[in-house]
Amino acid sequence: MATAQDFLKDFPLLHMQMNGKPIAYLDNGATTQKPEQVIKALCGYYGGCNANPHRGAYALSMKATDIYESARARVAQFIHAPKAEDIIFTKNATESLNLVAYSYGMTNVQKGDEIVITVSEHHSNLVPWQHVAQVKGATLKYIYLEDDANLSEEDIETKITERTKIVAVTQVSNVLGLKNDVKKVVDKAHSVGAIAVVDGSQSVPHMKVDVQAIDADFFAFSGHKLLSPMGIGVLYGKYELLDAMPPFLMGGDMIDYVEEQHTDFAEVPSKFEAGTQNVGGAAGLTAAIDYLDGIGFDTIEAIEKDLVDYALPQLRELPFIELYGCDSKRDNKTGIITFNVKDVHPHDVATILDSYGVAVRAGHHCAQPLMQYLGQNATCRASFYFYNTREDADRWIAALKQVRKVLGYGA
Ligand code: ALA
Repeated sequence: MATAQDFLKDFPLLHMQMNGKPIAYLDNGATTQKPEQVIKALCGYYGGCNANPHRGAYALSMKATDIYESARARVAQFIHAPKAEDIIFTKNATESLNLVAYSYGMTNVQKGDEIVITVSEHHSNLVPWQHVAQVKGATLKYIYLEDDANLSEEDIETKITERTKIVAVTQVSNVLGLKNDVKKVVDKAHSVGAIAVVDGSQSVPHMKVDVQAIDADFFAFSGHKLLSPMGIGVLYGKYELLDAMPPFLMGGDMIDYVEEQHTDFAEVPSKFEAGTQNVGGAAGLTAAIDYLDGIGFDTIEAIEKDLVDYALPQLRELPFIELYGCDSKRDNKTGIITFNVKDVHPHDVATILDSYGVAVRAGHHCAQPLMQYLGQNATCRASFYFYNTREDADRWIAALKQVRKVLGYGA
């Protein structure tokens, strides 16, 4: 099987230093590094094909249109959407989820209805639903967690009721790193006539995703978490739902015909893509998907699992380390390890690790209700990707052993 060493050569940034030390980049949940293939696709677009798509009757513009629409078809194939038109390009998962909230949510949720989400949602799949509930006079309900941090089966059964109009759930929590059984949540939503929105930001880069198998009504993810440039995101939606929804943003390229007092909108997907779109980002996303498919998700998952299996027992040996989401009774752990060092603020931990060239995230991870639920203000998070090595994990753990000493706590 291929190893991280086979891919490292493609990532220029991973050969740089941080604070005079080789970089151990363990913040892939926040954003991933970019391989040469993606950088070349982005530069190639701006260096050789740049023009405004859908608008020009000249060769360059038609080439830009072709790159953009081919990317749509490639994304559809990648997540097994029925057709390219089911894919809307946005700037990131946050915009995708806001599109659903503003367009579908504001239209279909009424006073007295209920929206159900989980307590482990990222703010991007929480704040928009809180807003819809507040504006429409609906109730926002939460599915909480079992002792092992998996979604409460009882809550899935009891919180989703005949009053529920929308259920929103993440496929993998960006803090706990556990794969949720989203099919079970989607099926329960459908059984009461609700629609289901799935946040795939932390799943699509790491595992094979099939939106038809999940039967999600909407599915969102960001390109930058799967090797692509920042500023390109995806919303998949079932065509009949998208077709019935009003536009989210208004302006150029989303219209069929405009008169002084009236506009006929374009068909899906153009209806949801107002203004000049991110063609360079789409070119990069295509190259990223090609790259990931070239590796294969079996290999990606195996590398991440090896790193977690390697690091976790060592972390458990350290009496000053507290772990979160690491005691799942199911085999559903991804490459995210969230932790705290006893008596040390996570920002201090991350700053000390930084001095050793180790990049981790510290803070509330845009999941404050989950932090409140866990009884923590903040945590640190190491998140692996297929280009990380056991040496990266060694350097992280070695630096962790220094944290309390640097702060004068002794061991
Ligand atoms: N959503 C990103 C993260 O979890 C930024 O770090």
